[in-house]
Amino acid sequence: MTTANNTNEFAADVAEIRRRAREHMEDGPITGSYGADREKVVKLLNEALATELVCVLRYKRHHFMARGINSESVAEEFLEHANEEQEHADQIAERITQLNGEPDMNPDVLSKRSHAQYVEGKDMLDMIKENLVAERIAIDSYKQMILYIGEKDPTTRRMLESILEKEEEHADDMANLLSAHSN
Ligand SMILES: [Fe+2]
Ligand SMILES: [Fe+2]
Repeated sequence: MTTANNTNEFAADVAEIRRRAREHMEDGPITGSYGADREKVVKLLNEALATELVCVLRYKRHHFMARGINSESVAEEFLEHANEEQEHADQIAERITQLNGEPDMNPDVLSKRSHAQYVEGKDMLDMIKENLVAERIAIDSYKQMILYIGEKDPTTRRMLESILEKEEEHADDMANLLSAHSN
């Protein structure tokens, strides 16, 4: 009995879902059931985008400036991270457009909006430290964004969770380099 009722209720839901899908088609993937504050999410994603782009530049700078013993392997690691931060930036920009927002890549505002900072670092140890600090900032901001989004926008949340996982790997890589270079 219960199963039949549930099936009927679901059938009614499907009819409602089909009806609603035809409304506001210009909103693309954003339907009436989108539970988050779209503008707020776009704003948060633009802060994350700025953070990622600043991280790309910082890691690139460090990649080219890494000098000293074992500098080649460290420089390679910096480059790998730069490329992964760029992938994150691209994923975020794509999601912003799906949410009918505009990715802001204006260089004049990037460093102001970024959570992490662009620090050049005076030597390799300093660069590693600054990268670790930036990763730890990124980890905390992604965690906060994930908590804010909760169940309201599962696609954005999943993307942020996968980026967070990467940032934790990055922080671990930098922590390992730091202990290797502190001795
Ligand atoms: Fe990243
Ligand atoms: Fe990172």
